Amino acid sequence: MISIESVRKQFPMLSQLMHGKPLIYFDSAATTQKPQSVIDAMSSFYETRYGTVHRAVYELAARSTAEYDLARQKVQHFLHAKHLEEIVFTKGTTESINLVASSFGRAFINAGDEVLISETEHHANIVPWQMMCAERGAILQVIPCNEKGEIDLTAFEDLLSDKTKIVALAHIANSTGTIHPIKQIIQRAHVKGAKVLIDGAQSVSHQNIDVQDLDADFFVFSGHKAYGPTGIGVLYGKKELLDVLPPYQGGGDMVDEVRFEKTTYQKSPLKFEAGTPPIAEVIGLGAAIDFIESLGREKVAFHEHTLLAYATEKLQGVEGLRIIGMAANKGPIISFVIQGVHPLDLGTMLSLKGVAVRTGHMCAQPTLRKYGLTSMTRISFGVYNNIQEIDYFMQALNEVLLLLRPSM
Ligand SMILES: Cc1ncc(COP(=O)(O)O)c(C=O)c1O
Repeated sequence: MISIESVRKQFPMLSQLMHGKPLIYFDSAATTQKPQSVIDAMSSFYETRYGTVHRAVYELAARSTAEYDLARQKVQHFLHAKHLEEIVFTKGTTESINLVASSFGRAFINAGDEVLISETEHHANIVPWQMMCAERGAILQVIPCNEKGEIDLTAFEDLLSDKTKIVALAHIANSTGTIHPIKQIIQRAHVKGAKVLIDGAQSVSHQNIDVQDLDADFFVFSGHKAYGPTGIGVLYGKKELLDVLPPYQGGGDMVDEVRFEKTTYQKSPLKFEAGTPPIAEVIGLGAAIDFIESLGREKVAFHEHTLLAYATEKLQGVEGLRIIGMAANKGPIISFVIQGVHPLDLGTMLSLKGVAVRTGHMCAQPTLRKYGLTSMTRISFGVYNNIQEIDYFMQALNEVLLLLRPSM
């Protein structure tokens, strides 16, 4: 069992007051708070060890490079990747998906080919594919989900064809919280010869990930949703794929030899890391991985599942409240709407009581459209949340509802 009290003490933000009330932070699906170890790793790097990477022979640069490379090894172990060269640093999930859409698209997608995504994707896993399909004359196909937010596997099988070149799917949907059966989906896609990109933005800090066991071709995530800093993300790609994909951006560090007539490139991962990388952020990500590993993701998942089950039951007792996404297998995310209450009013009034919840379209407008909505409220948990916070939230919610719909 994790001691949540001792975990909470590691997060300075959790002792802040908001509108004079203790902060209840229920928006970890958007971004997580940071433990002191991550903050310290980055500030001590800037204070005592800062230097560039890869480019210089002086001692400081050599040490920075070693620290930077160590963080890459941490990511490799975190995802159970076979090779270090399979870990590419990016700005975040969004950039990782854009990189794959652009490079994979240029290398492997031709007119008439198809790309499959699901009905409940984040905009970051829709728009890059749309842009690439428009450029390549390819077709974007959408796998439907049922009312609970679960992928329709029969429809998926029907959509899969020899034309399908890549399937891009969230491991956990940020809107409905559905955990998709990605291993099964990857297996079926591979039978048809299609590659699979898993958007792990919502899963990587909540459950163990083994990209070899999953046989994922690409797996992407953002540091800031996994207790790390903003501005850093990861693209895992199978070595044989990264070896043949063309670079995404050009510039320093990604080249072997530059001539005006022709430039040759480095191998992966440097081939995909043009320019001076976000060095401190990479080091912060390494510290975030240490933090998660120190807790154990199985224990984290158990704790967060307890919170999910408790909050789901409490919310189901609220009159007129409808939970959006009731999949059998869910991550720690609950989205809901309440009859007669606008989510923005609810979010604003909860904020006055110190409670941070997400309201709006969750960067998933097509998902909301599927449910006939334009806006909803979402609570989502990190390892630092506890049952008392859910009780406080429920009390605050009931008080706000008395004001927002006095007739009920
Ligand atoms: C499932 C999913 N994919 C992609 C993203 C985009 O992540 P980022 O904005 O860190 O690039 C998010 C962020 O909310 C997400 O939840």
